Amino acid sequence: MSPRSDHRVRPGFPPTAAGEAAPGPLGQAGDDRLAFWARQAERLHWGTGWTRVLDWSDAPVARWFVGGRLNVAYNCVDRHVEAGHGDQVAFHWEGEPGDTRTITYADLRREVCKAANALLSLGLRAGDRVAIQLPMIPEAVFAMLACARLGLPHSVVFGGFSPAALQSRIEDAEARLLITSDGQYRRGRAEPMKANTDEATRNTPGVEHVLVVRRTGIDVPWTDGRDLWWHELVDAQPDQHTPEDFDAEHPLFILYTSGTTGRPKGILHTSGGYLTQAAYTHGTVFNLDPDADVYWCTADIGWITGHSYIVYGPLANRTTSVMYEGTPHTPHEGRHFEIIEKYGVTIYYTAPTVIRTFMKWGEDIPARYDLSSIGVLGSVGEPINPEAWRWYRKHIGGDRVPVLDTWWQTETGTIMIAPLPGGPAAKPGSAQAPLPGISAKIVDDQGRQVGKGESGYLVLDQPWPSMLRGVWGDDDRYRETYWSRFAAQGHYFAGDGARYDEDGDIWLLGRVDDVMNVSGHRISTAEVESALVSHPAVAEAAVVGASDATTGQAIVAFVILRGGTARPAGDVTDVLREHVAKEIGPIAKPRQIMVVPELPKTRSGKIMRRLLRDVAENREVGDVTTLADASVMQFINAGPADGS
Ligand code: WT7
Repeated sequence: MSPRSDHRVRPGFPPTAAGEAAPGPLGQAGDDRLAFWARQAERLHWGTGWTRVLDWSDAPVARWFVGGRLNVAYNCVDRHVEAGHGDQVAFHWEGEPGDTRTITYADLRREVCKAANALLSLGLRAGDRVAIQLPMIPEAVFAMLACARLGLPHSVVFGGFSPAALQSRIEDAEARLLITSDGQYRRGRAEPMKANTDEATRNTPGVEHVLVVRRTGIDVPWTDGRDLWWHELVDAQPDQHTPEDFDAEHPLFILYTSGTTGRPKGILHTSGGYLTQAAYTHGTVFNLDPDADVYWCTADIGWITGHSYIVYGPLANRTTSVMYEGTPHTPHEGRHFEIIEKYGVTIYYTAPTVIRTFMKWGEDIPARYDLSSIGVLGSVGEPINPEAWRWYRKHIGGDRVPVLDTWWQTETGTIMIAPLPGGPAAKPGSAQAPLPGISAKIVDDQGRQVGKGESGYLVLDQPWPSMLRGVWGDDDRYRETYWSRFAAQGHYFAGDGARYDEDGDIWLLGRVDDVMNVSGHRISTAEVESALVSHPAVAEAAVVGASDATTGQAIVAFVILRGGTARPAGDVTDVLREHVAKEIGPIAKPRQIMVVPELPKTRSGKIMRRLLRDVAENREVGDVTTLADASVMQFINAGPADGS
């Protein structure tokens, strides 16, 4: 069926518009909704058809496409080759130093089969977990698809995460194999990667092998017997492998994301529903024509955007994609535009923080390139401010193409709220409305839907195919985090604030919990606080997200130091910033650390972050009447500030 024929099915406001299921407890999803998703699942090849679209009897754990069996990698690769598209380019890959690789669907099939055979030769069997920490190189895609082909849930860890962060993810998922590289290019330099992963695997005896891609050629530490080169093991394998079908609910991957506590949670996604919604949203939102479009999503595969919109969605749709290894300013600030011009990119999907960086560099840079191939622009990761939206449309989109703000989360798996191309005129900064098949609402404290012009909490009131199936190894945390806030209504609580405008369109307002969004990366205040107090010089720490012109939010920390000998030599705030980078990763490095004598607390001992945010954003401090000691704020304002 044509992906375009469903545009009319979009639910209106109020959500009981004709054709939609009446709002009600989850599990009473209307027949129309289920029939809609059944049609979308026909985008995929199923070895065995499903008998029921949705089983919600064990809510909040969903089972979609019950009884169906499929192979995700077959759907992303082999079937396109079998249909005669083997010569179509799957990836125009562009390395940071300027080297390139062109990978057709036939190439992709060979590479994925070889990698799958290599994993089999290591004794891995369906259900075993594989950790992957790789730069943006084609082997990252081969590795993910080889895992999918064999039913090995992968856990991809962003290349910028510290050894400690990698270690905790390996341990939590009990991975048997780690796939990594010797090094990675960062802003023109070859930086070590294997040396870091070795630090992570020093205390993870469950990792039997480390499979290493040679990317930069730098020297690496090596453990004989455990470590294997990709080019030796994988390249020697036969390039054919017969895929086996797995249950629609077979785990496809685990992806860790920050919550409101210090410990990241492993979000679990499964196969049939996830791939259905990834293919549907990618095809529909971007109005994809697999025979004509050249699509580029600039995310890293270490995040959900990379999973759903570089790997699974685009490949399921037989897309020709661009994949780029490096940063936007290497070797110069026009690199992205040069790539768009070179490959004739028609769909470009990036994050507001990247757009604001381009704005800072100046519009004369994109003006030097021919960007006329662009037909659709997408944005994801954080609310896009109207100035950035307009700049994006004008200077990248030539003031002629739709700019689509797409709201979703690691947990939702794929896009949930977005304007559709060809739909009503997009509003700068509004994700507008749930996609056809999706139901979302804005509710008040009591779970009652708010009216036009009002704001509240964003909830999802009907199950959706790509929804998370749980938190790896922690069922309680799944129920507690997402389903307890509006338990009476049976709503999924997204953690975001939102507002209806006078037309009933949705505007996202940012997180309502203690989760920060820095350059589209989710970081919890608790995670940074525990990293800070793990340093011997710190007695107590409180962290807030302060608004920042480029990164959306920036991390600002308030610390109380211990007296005596614990104080490090040198500038303590520099030492602590580096410490956080080492504990979590450079993305979590606070922009600013203020040393304070005390923290503002309520009588019950809760830190009042609202007041700290006032300080961090240079505002007059708000109402302090609930503080145990109202004079504290004077000291904090007067405290030695570090303006780094
Ligand atoms: C959180 C999810 C979605 C993939 C990348 C981030 C924020 C994301 C938008 C948007 C406003 C957005 C939300 C959400 N967010 N997209 N278009 N408008 N906010 O995935 O790391 O799981 O973070 O990012 O706060 O809850 P994530």
